[in-house]
Order: sequence, then C-alpha cells, then structure tokens
Amino acid sequence: MTVTIEHSGEIAVVTIDNPPVNALSQAVRQDLWNAAETLDADFAVRAVVLICEGRTFIAGADVNEFGKPPTPPHLPDLVARIETAAKPWVAAIHGSALGGGFEVALGCRFRVAVPSASVGLPEVRLGIVPGAGGTVRLPRLVGPALAAEMVTAGTPVAAPKARSHGLIDAVVEGDLEKGAIDFARAALDQSLPLPLRQRGVPAVDATFWETITTAVAGRAKREDAPLRALACVRKAAEADFEAAMAFERQTFLELRGSSQASALRHVFFAERAALRPPELGGVEPRRISSAAVIGGGTMGAGILAALCDARLPVTLVERDEVAVERGLSNLRSIFDGLVKRGKISSEAAAERLSAVTGTTDYGLLARVDLVIEAVFEDIDVKRDVFSRLSAVCRADAVLATNTSYLDPEEIAAGIKYPERFVGLHFFSPAHVMKLLEIVPTAQTAPATLATGFALARMLNKIPVRAGICDGFIGNRILKITRAQAERLLLAGATPQAVDAAMRTFGFPMGPFEAQDLGGLDIAAFQRRAARARGETPFAPIAERLCALERFGQKSGGGWYDYARGDRTPKPSKIVADIIADVAKGMPQRPWDEPSIVDCIVLPMVNEAVKILHEKVALRAVDIDLVKIHGYGFPRWRGGPMHYAQQRGLAEIVAQLERFAAHGLADPPCHHFDSAARGSDTIGIDVPA
Ligand code: 3HC
Ligand code: NAI
Repeated sequence: MTVTIEHSGEIAVVTIDNPPVNALSQAVRQDLWNAAETLDADFAVRAVVLICEGRTFIAGADVNEFGKPPTPPHLPDLVARIETAAKPWVAAIHGSALGGGFEVALGCRFRVAVPSASVGLPEVRLGIVPGAGGTVRLPRLVGPALAAEMVTAGTPVAAPKARSHGLIDAVVEGDLEKGAIDFARAALDQSLPLPLRQRGVPAVDATFWETITTAVAGRAKREDAPLRALACVRKAAEADFEAAMAFERQTFLELRGSSQASALRHVFFAERAALRPPELGGVEPRRISSAAVIGGGTMGAGILAALCDARLPVTLVERDEVAVERGLSNLRSIFDGLVKRGKISSEAAAERLSAVTGTTDYGLLARVDLVIEAVFEDIDVKRDVFSRLSAVCRADAVLATNTSYLDPEEIAAGIKYPERFVGLHFFSPAHVMKLLEIVPTAQTAPATLATGFALARMLNKIPVRAGICDGFIGNRILKITRAQAERLLLAGATPQAVDAAMRTFGFPMGPFEAQDLGGLDIAAFQRRAARARGETPFAPIAERLCALERFGQKSGGGWYDYARGDRTPKPSKIVADIIADVAKGMPQRPWDEPSIVDCIVLPMVNEAVKILHEKVALRAVDIDLVKIHGYGFPRWRGGPMHYAQQRGLAEIVAQLERFAAHGLADPPCHHFDSAARGSDTIGIDVPA
C-alpha cells in the first residue's frame, strides 16, 4: 500500500509512502482517489491531514511516466477530487512540495509546513508547464504577479517566505503531524475559506502582462516553457476556471511530448545518475572531514570557497607569506562578492572564512583527509608539491591535482601510496561551476575514486569520470570548437557572425567572446606544449593575435576591440585584416547561422564519439553533462550527444562528409559512421 489512513479522533491522517520522493505514480493517484472516496463516506471524519513518509512531501508527478500515455486517474481530476471533497484537507509539508505535489497541496483547503520545507512549481525546468491546475489555482491564492514569477522561473520558495506570501497558512514548529492535526481541529471551529476554484483572480494594471512578457522572454531565451507557462497564468486571470484548466492541460500535453522537454528530462535523470556511477557500486568512499588546498590563485581560492560552503575546515598552503595573504584575500573577495549580491549574509561569510587557516608549512597537513593541488600549470612545480605531500600526509589521505592539461600519471610519478592520488578538475569560477571531472590514474584505488564522487556530492557538483588525454573530456572538445571557429573565419565568416550563431543555438556566449573573456594566452600556452610534443595545433589567427599581445579583454583587445572600462566587444579592423591575410587564396563562401552551428557542433560530436570509444568517457550522457555544466551547451538541447541522437546520426554523418569535402572539418570517424549505418545510436554505454 502506498497510501494508508489512520484516525486521530475526528481527523483522518492520510499518509503517502512512495520512496524515494513520493512521486505521484498511477498507484499513488489511485490510492489517494480511493482515500478521498472512503473518507467522504465516513461520517466520523470531519477533516483530513495529508502527510508523507520519508525525506519529502510529494516531489511531483512521476517523471518516469512522461514518455508514456497518461493513465487515469489523471492528476487534475485527483486534485479536483480533493478540492471538492466533503471534508477539508490540510496538506502537511516537509521537504519539498513541488510540481504536482504542490498542485495537490493547492487542492487542499489549507497548507502547513515545517520551517525547512519549500514549495514551488519547477515544471519549466523540465520543459513543461504545471499540468494539474498550478497556473490556475496559484494566481487565485497569491495573485498573478507572484504566480507568474513562480511558474516562469520555477524557483521553490522556502516556508517562512511562503507563509508571508500566503502560499501556506502556517509554519509548524515541532512535530508536523501533530501540528497539522491541531491546525485542522482549530480550523473546524471557524468558517472555512472557499476552495481556490471558487475564488477570483485579483486584477492587475494594464501594463502588467506586456512588462512581464518582455522580462520572461529575455530570461527564457529560446526555451519554450516559460512563456507558455506565463500564457497559462494570463488565461487564468482572463478566463473562467474551467476554460483556464483546459488551456493549461492542453499546453502541458503539447509540451510534454516536445524535444525540449525530452532533452531536459534526459539531463534531469543524468544529473542524478552521475552521483552514483554503477562501476563504483558498493565501493566505500573515504571520510572527508577536513581538507587543504595548495595554491590560492584563481582556482585555489574558488576551490577553497566551495570547500568552505560544504562547511569543511580548510588549510591553504602557499609559497610564502605574501602569497598566503594574497590567497586569503582572493578568498575574501569571493565571499565579499557573494554578500554584495545577497547570496549569503555577512555573518555566514565570516563564519566560513573563520574555518580557513593560511600557512606555508606542509607540516600542518599531517592529519588532513583531502588535499587539492592548484598551483601553476608546470610539471616540475606540481611534482615538487606532491613529493612534499607524499612525505607529510597520512597514507590514506586523498591527494588530488586540479591540472587542466598535464598528465596526472606524470604528476603522481614516484609518490608514496599512489593509490590515493586522483585528478579533480574543477572549472572556473570553481565555487560556481557545477562540473567536476574526476580523472583516475592507472593506480588510483576504487575508494579514492569513490571519494571524488562523494566530494562532488558534498560540494553540490556534477561529477564525471574522465580518462587521461590532452584536455580530458571537456577541454579536448573545446579545442575542436575553437579550431572549427577559426576554420569558419578562413572560409568567409566573421567573428561576430560565428558568435551570434552560437548564441542563437543557445550558448550564453560565442567561442570568440568567451575566449576574449578567459584570455587567449592560456590556449597559446597549451599550443606551445603541444608543439613541444611534436603536434601541430591549428590556430593560425589566434597565434597572430597572441604575437600582437591581443590576449582578450584583459589586454584591451583580442578577437574584438574593447574601449577602456567597457566589456562590449567591438568588431576589430586589425583582426579583420589578419583574417584576410591568413585566408588569402582560400575559397570564401556565405554562411548562414545553421551552417555555422553545424560546422562547429557536428565536429564536436565527432570528437565526442572518439572520446567515447577511447573510453575517455564511459557514457555518452557523461559527455552531455560535461558540455552543459562546464561549457554552456544549452541544457534544453540535452548536450551534444542527445542533440546528435535527436537530430539523426545519418544526417550528421552526411553533413560532416560535406564539410570534409571542402576542407572545413575532419571526416566522421569510423565509429560514428558505423553507428549511423547500424543501430543508429551513439548513446551506447562502453563498459569500464
Ligand atoms: N519523478 C520521478 N522520480 C523522481 C522525481 C520525480 N518527480 N523527483 C526525483 N526523482 C527521483 C530521482 O531521479 C532520484 O532517483 P534515483 O535515486 O534512482 O537516482 C530520486 O528520486 C532522488 O532524487 P534526488 O537525488 O533529486 O533527491 P534529493 O533529496 O536530492 O532532492 C527533490 C529531492 C528536491 C524532490 C528533487 O528530487 C527534485 O527536485 N525533484 C524534481 C521535482 C520536480 O521537478 N517536480 C515536478 C515534476 S513535473 C510535475 O509535477 C508535472 C505536474 O505539474 C503535472
Ligand atoms: P594562478 O596562477 O592563479 O594560481 C596559482 C597559485 O599557486 C598562485 O597563487 C601561486 O602563488 C601558487 N603556487 C605556485 N607554486 C606553489 C607552490 N610550490 N606551493 C604553493 N603554492 C604555489 O593559477 P590558476 O589559474 O589558479 O591555476 C591553478 C591550476 O588550476 C593550474 O594547474 C591550472 O591549469 C588549473 N586550472 C585552471 C583553470 C582556470 O580557468 N584558471 C581551470 C581549471 C584548472
């Protein structure tokens, strides 16, 4: 039984127990329907408390059912059944009441919650709109402005704020079930509020819809769901209850089958699965209750901030006292910024900072559980650091490098207990970016690897295991992105056209703007290293820009020109002349946006297929997570592999062959070619 009924005098308590998150599967819907029928017929019952077992109230509709035909009882009917029940229902919320869960709560006459609970309608994050009356009842409860904000952003609201907005009726301190029963008893002594379906929607002024539509369209960019959700709230304000319900349901069903919703569901499940890779099943991670970071520069300070946010005591080791001070000051600036932007309180920032010790003394690391090295990208400097760590740290302390391009095997060569060593590749800014590439060496022990994944969970990051190659998963594909972007310039496209096309596709920034922001010097350094290894990296224009010390925004110019104190990229005559010079004699052609995107994204997919077959990535979905969380690939396209699969492999292979025939890309690798001819899937899992 997923739903049980107990009695406390004249109050019935309906409890849902459907782990892990009490999602509204068909069985739960049916049981709740039956409970409503039973309790309506029970004369001894005067009110009903709806409560959940486990870690949360109902987290929503069961997302696993979205790919299948809807089965009765349908959720809107169930919510209506509860709303029109003969006895008032009280939703007793702990954890989260999200999506269909909050819609059920809106069908109840009252909502009470523990202080740590939150409520919300996050459906837009799955590419859909609420499908069980959320957009119709919410504006009747709190007005169209807050309703529109909640359904278009999808952000949950914490209980105290929810109480002040009228989203819930009471915050219950102490035992929730008892508090809800007491609340129900007290409510029975007073006249009951109207069910939401019988209430009107408060009026808004004439300009409201226009203003909010512009704001939501700006935020949503090319995602469909937010504007469709707004249209539902507007319908609720302008039509009667039943018409608005029908409009919402129609929108929900349409979006549920959309490619954006399918991509966002793919990412939703991928993000959760990433935390528990099957190949590490049963492996116990080591306990992490203290950490250290070596190097307090850009990355070190960000990693320190992330560790502080996880409430770990941390030690920062730097080269000398001046560098210690600088590292601590870098960390303070991060927290100052967070306080300024209202992300945390100044007290919380001070508390986090108080858990950090700065030192030059490696001796202080003798008892620490985890050390992350973030010193200069120089093999000798890194090896020196690890030989010191190897001498002072516990045999079972995890030792990690944050290298971007160096070979972790070489960094770890010669250290004692190499099984405790692993690469942990954070992304800048490390306290913000969600991606963590976890890079084992041949000697890394499963428990060390599992500790990397456990750390990701502690830091609220998305971990992806990556094999060793130049750039691991993410930067290796980035190299292709940049090379293709330059190829386009040599074939007649401008930096502005390339950047605009990639933004239209859904990236927050184009490849040239992004490189101007990060600096062209980092890639130049990698190319020097590659040439030293005998490789021939392709970046003819970037090389010329670096020779002119055009490193990007920091030097006042890169792919674009920048006015002093202004980050707006301006087309550059110098760059245009260099492109014309390098492209002399090469065929030029007109480029439209879809062709520009294909010329960059399809070679990225081709490289990803190679990465998969070399087992640098174990799963196609891991590549999707890397590109979404580290490089701005649009989430609503599901990542490059999901995008390729949706688009059709045969078409992509044909397009790559056309580019290759004109020297605009490498031909599709043979794995890609055979996937396109055979099973037509690149989502295959390559066994570890
Ligand atoms: N349906 C099916 N499975 C779900 C689910 C859902 N709505 N929500 C979570 N799960 C699963 C996860 O996939 C995961 O499964 P796994 O253990 O097999 O990997 C498990 O539940 C636990 O999830 P989390 O790891 O996310 O658990 P947390 O405790 O960290 O977070 C939560 C709990 C905040 C509830 C979080 O799971 C969450 O945000 N869930 C999604 C909520 C949501 O989007 N609801 C709206 C659904 S759409 C809807 O309701 C449409 C309606 O309007 C008709
Ligand atoms: P940075 O130059 O900003 O910081 C390096 C810090 O290391 C400096 O504070 C320096 O004083 C300190 N340091 C140098 N030698 C040391 C030693 N022997 N002992 C203690 N401290 C020492 O460099 P950044 O950008 O933070 O990079 C650090 C590492 O992170 C590099 O390996 C880099 O490749 C990697 N990385 C950088 C990313 C980025 O976007 N900047 C992204 C991901 C990884």
